[in-house]
Amino acid sequence: AKPKAGKLRRTLRWMWRLTYLSAAGLVGYTFYMVYEDRHPEPQFEPSPSKKTLVVLGTGWGSVALLKKLDTENYNVIVVSPRNYFLFTPLLPSCTTGTIEHRSIMEPVRAILRHKKAAVKYYEAEVSCIDPDRKMIKIVDNSEIKGAISETEIPYDMLVIGVGAENATFGVPGVREHSCFLKEIGDAQQIRKTIMDCVETAAFKGQSAEEVDRLMHMVVVGGGPTGVEFAGELQDFFDEDIRKLVPDISPRFKVTLIEALPNVLPSFSKQLIEYTENTLREERINILTKTAVKKVTENSLEAEMSRPDGTKERVIIPYGLLVWATGNAVRPVVKDLMSRIPAQKDSRRGLAVNEYLVVQGTRDIWAIGDCAVAGYAPTAQVASQEGNFLGRLLNNMAMTGEHEDRIKELSSTMNLQAGNAAEVAEEIERLEKKLRRIRDVKPFRYSHQGSLAYIGSEKAVADVSWWNGNFATGGSMTYLFWRSAYLSMCFSTRNRVLVVVDWLKSKAFGRDVSRE
Ligand code: FAD
Ligand code: NAI
Repeated sequence: AKPKAGKLRRTLRWMWRLTYLSAAGLVGYTFYMVYEDRHPEPQFEPSPSKKTLVVLGTGWGSVALLKKLDTENYNVIVVSPRNYFLFTPLLPSCTTGTIEHRSIMEPVRAILRHKKAAVKYYEAEVSCIDPDRKMIKIVDNSEIKGAISETEIPYDMLVIGVGAENATFGVPGVREHSCFLKEIGDAQQIRKTIMDCVETAAFKGQSAEEVDRLMHMVVVGGGPTGVEFAGELQDFFDEDIRKLVPDISPRFKVTLIEALPNVLPSFSKQLIEYTENTLREERINILTKTAVKKVTENSLEAEMSRPDGTKERVIIPYGLLVWATGNAVRPVVKDLMSRIPAQKDSRRGLAVNEYLVVQGTRDIWAIGDCAVAGYAPTAQVASQEGNFLGRLLNNMAMTGEHEDRIKELSSTMNLQAGNAAEVAEEIERLEKKLRRIRDVKPFRYSHQGSLAYIGSEKAVADVSWWNGNFATGGSMTYLFWRSAYLSMCFSTRNRVLVVVDWLKSKAFGRDVSRE
């Protein structure tokens, strides 16, 4: 038995060494990445003779494009009212303080500083795009304005990646009384309102009816945004608020309202069932086949379809109302569409061809949620489109460069009698390269799957696997969800901050202070 014990001890010792080495490797790699982040190479200004490429937006589409783009080939100008990239998949976690909002933001200036050639950034909104004059109008809508807060920028090439705004379907009262969940400000507003509702419900002498209203949190829209938020909210109450404010906690209720017969309509049937069962186990009240028709300050009016086909109007009082019913076209995009006859039949955004060129225009491309290319409005699609367009623009610049060089070589061939053969060879090599560059395949989206957090440390995943689909849900999927999103975070800084936030909220509980 002795030699066996020795072997076991040796194996354990090796395993320990390996773990130790991998941990040391991970720490070393993290430090290296942090150093790289903090010490970018010096940048140079691109030649003024290069074309001006204007990129609108700093979201998933535009940032993927900027990452891929060789900025030395163009004079690149980025215009966006948001001077950071936002990692939206973790935004629902910011509404309850599981993650702090700055952990999922990456300043656009830090992103651009790592490009070889300098890129100009203007914090402004584009209010008008004039394709005839090849000009955009930009407006500084921030709180502090200088002597100039409105100007025009001419472009040679334009990429539109302005995303979408929140859909309200014209339901009265939504904009005035509910919170959306799209931007950092929305998540902060929700976090503040949750705690305001709780503290107000705990106010001395509050009537039972009023406590019930204040503690009723309603989410409209059973798409992934609504489901993930409802799950996060229930976790917050179960894990933190219940312990801190026990007397009113039994009155807390989350209701998820969806107009269609089920939540998460884009997921597989099996996962829809699993999600609805899990949400019910978490005591989330699900109202399907219920469309909200009107919102007032303290209650909403909805139309419920009964199983026998009859309809009933119900009034639902609420303390917090979160509106998550999907996307609508931004005004600047609508305005551009109205100027292009080829866009007259497009309803959901700028119709683009398979190279993402806006139909009916020259030198304008659209990517992400503002473009209609036949795919769902997701981060996955936007970033693949941005990536594709980055490569396409790099190729286009190289094409121009090679064409100029071929012209130059051809025109001097007669003068270089001695090495004409070498010149001809060089021309042939460049032409071969050109053919390869020009042979760019059209954009094709490759779906990697869908993931959503559904609360109580469970997630659902519809993952593409070889040629098929693999649907799974539960606690292991939750670990997969966490590691997938962690690996997708923009930078090492984001990854470190998100891990620290997860550990912090697990160890000390979420921070319930109302800012
Ligand atoms: P955005 O990322 O919205 O970026 C638009 C940019 O344009 C912003 O920088 C904005 O400031 C700027 N802009 C706006 N107006 C103007 C203007 N007038 N002029 C100039 N710039 C302007 N998708 C997934 O695939 N997986 C997920 O897990 C996931 N989770 C999500 C969670 C939430 C809470 C939300 C809201 C969305 C989620 N999505 C997810 C969807 C995903 O975030 C969007 O599809 C994606 O952000 C679209 O990228 P985009 O670049 O088109 O637009
Ligand atoms: P969505 O469009 O996916 O869902 C909105 C839901 O609201 C729809 O099911 C609709 O039927 C419902 N609705 C509309 N009007 C209503 C009304 N008046 N009353 C009740 N219900 C109403 O919107 P969501 O969730 O904001 O997602 C937007 C996009 O972002 C989608 O493409 C989605 O796939 C993507 N996304 C992906 C996530 C993920 O993969 N984890 C997370 C969040 C968003």
